[in-house]
Amino acid sequence: MAESNQKNLDIDLEKITSEEEAKKAVAKLTKAIRYHNYRYYVMDDPVISDAEYDKLMRQLQKLEQEYPDLQDPNSPTQRVGGEVKEELGTVKHPTPLLSLKAAYKKEEIINFSETCQKELNNNKIEYVAEPKYDGLSIELIYEDGNLTTAATRGDGNTGENVLSNVKTIAEIPLKLRSEKNESPAKLVVRGEVFMLKDEFNDFNKKREGKGEDPFANPRNAAAGSLRQLDPKTTAERPLHVFIYEVLLCNGCDFENHWQELKAFEDYGLKVNMTQSQKCDDIHEALRYYDEMAEKRDELPYEIDGIVIKVNDLKDRDKMGVRQRDPRWAIAYKFKPRQGTTNLENIKVQVGRTGKLTPVAKLEPLNIGGVQVSRASLHNQSEVEKKDIRIGDTVLVERAGDVIPYVVKPIKDERDGSEKKFHMPDKCPVCNSEVVMSEDKKTTRCPNINCRAQVRERIIHFTQKAAMNIQGLGKRRVIQLMNANLIDSISSIYDLEKDEIADLERYGDKSAQNLIDEIENSKEQTLQRFIYALGIPLIGEHLAQVLAQNYKTLEDIKNADKEELEQIHEIGPEVADSITVFFSQEDNLEQINKILDAGVELQNPAYREKDKKLPLEGKKFVFTGAMDEWTRAEAKKLVEDLGGRATSSVSGETDYLVAGKDTGSKLDKAKENDVTILKEAEFKKLIDSKNEE
Ligand code: IVH
Repeated sequence: MAESNQKNLDIDLEKITSEEEAKKAVAKLTKAIRYHNYRYYVMDDPVISDAEYDKLMRQLQKLEQEYPDLQDPNSPTQRVGGEVKEELGTVKHPTPLLSLKAAYKKEEIINFSETCQKELNNNKIEYVAEPKYDGLSIELIYEDGNLTTAATRGDGNTGENVLSNVKTIAEIPLKLRSEKNESPAKLVVRGEVFMLKDEFNDFNKKREGKGEDPFANPRNAAAGSLRQLDPKTTAERPLHVFIYEVLLCNGCDFENHWQELKAFEDYGLKVNMTQSQKCDDIHEALRYYDEMAEKRDELPYEIDGIVIKVNDLKDRDKMGVRQRDPRWAIAYKFKPRQGTTNLENIKVQVGRTGKLTPVAKLEPLNIGGVQVSRASLHNQSEVEKKDIRIGDTVLVERAGDVIPYVVKPIKDERDGSEKKFHMPDKCPVCNSEVVMSEDKKTTRCPNINCRAQVRERIIHFTQKAAMNIQGLGKRRVIQLMNANLIDSISSIYDLEKDEIADLERYGDKSAQNLIDEIENSKEQTLQRFIYALGIPLIGEHLAQVLAQNYKTLEDIKNADKEELEQIHEIGPEVADSITVFFSQEDNLEQINKILDAGVELQNPAYREKDKKLPLEGKKFVFTGAMDEWTRAEAKKLVEDLGGRATSSVSGETDYLVAGKDTGSKLDKAKENDVTILKEAEFKKLIDSKNEE
């Protein structure tokens, strides 16, 4: 589909005066909306913002209202949601998964409450106000307490079957808790799957490090992660969930929504009670909106507004639904955090690992109270895909503490003076010839002594979350490097007070302060030190995981790939990165120098295994599907008891756990005299060991 005529669709409804003109506009809007549905729902890669999409949809609705003859039964306004990825298999929803009417102004909310009052003949209506999470809507079905179905919204009537993927999300219980309330015969709930902002940033960095396309925002990342064909991929993604609606319940007698939310907690479903609020009237809901708008940046997840819902369930029934959305609820969206500005230039930055990143220099603009002057453009392929040129007017979006990004150029504003951008052939810092991957997604400077790389490594090493050398921020590091006082991480420890004191903006006292800071940072935890080393793919979390599993740095250095992969959160790529890092002479030399300078590592994170765990030394292999657990869950059961789970059967294997549809592993286990456990026997073993 030609994209250019889809993107900059700007129709002025005021100018439409005849049915003929309206017909043309309807056709254009329909085509554009279909295209954007496809980008959003199928590709998880939208090219316009939600606000722009909403505008197209509202324009089409308005035209269809004014000219009812033009309404096609297959118009996008008649559908609830989006498209379905065929490969996943489909699920017919027991009740349609509706959308929400969106409001952007206070008056629209007052109107909503007046409609509620009129229809319910009631002046005192209770509402529940909740965050509007910016993720992917999900339907979960529990039968007799067991999770039996999980589906995306799809077109509202039929969604994609994502059960195996959903089962990898630890926050979603496979079985409802029934201590307080007995599980209903059938419970259908709806919630949102999302990524935390921090985890999204780490995840995107890793993707970029591997030369994969970064996701534009946490929502697209969550959607892309859940709609994977291989659940293993989903399992590696940091996904979370909040449940917020009952769609159907056989065997419940809730009177209101607030009760439902509380019951979810008892069932072990993740609800966000702390950020949700019962409101006595609409004004309280409006105050909640203001509070949430203030809080928005502090929340660890993205929200794009609030949802106001009538609390009483009988009242909801009385009000009923429109075509796409219920009449008893409304989304009150925040102002889009977007703006347009001039893209003045594209600079190329060299990162810690030598990766070259194009960065847009923007004419400063204020988006939602924050001054924005730069935005990452990720890589050459991304620049070409979006057709971003130097001199363009661009649409920029800021999402919480996620780095601002360029949504698209406004092509209509071009005057022909804009210039296409190409990554340089040489590193802008050390002039080495750079290497670009064939797909143009990564460009690297191969020179590990490139000053930019060294500088970034030092800045990474000294930062707060790493060695926490407070007087050594980015500016100071650059100053010390320019004065030739430092040229590697370990050279920090050779700094002398007098040479620092001679530098501009330093004096005797501040020089001594820096020396003291460096001295104080020498007593350090292994966890921070591992992070500080800047091993590719090792963020703060994995550094912690390593420190929990290995007592000393020496132990980590000596760990081989296979051993590292036994750790729950470490996959082949990460294991590779660690072993490669510790096999490089330069790195070992740096580490030795740092330790010789007196850096001392303690490891309080290490999980002392003084008591031998019941399955210590036992090796398990799993084959075939199990009823009660996914592979990852079963693996965790074994690991929590000190055992190990490996992927192939050998003479060293102690147990083969055989689920349904077993394959060649079973034969191999028989050959090797491995004890074979059926699922029930495995359960018994785990239960008995847990009691030990
Ligand atoms: S209730 C029938 N509550 O917003 C009403 N939806 O634009 C069902 N959303 O697709 C929705 N947070 O994915 C509801 N607290 C919340 C929500 C929420 C986010 C999403 C939902 C829906 C979209 C509608």
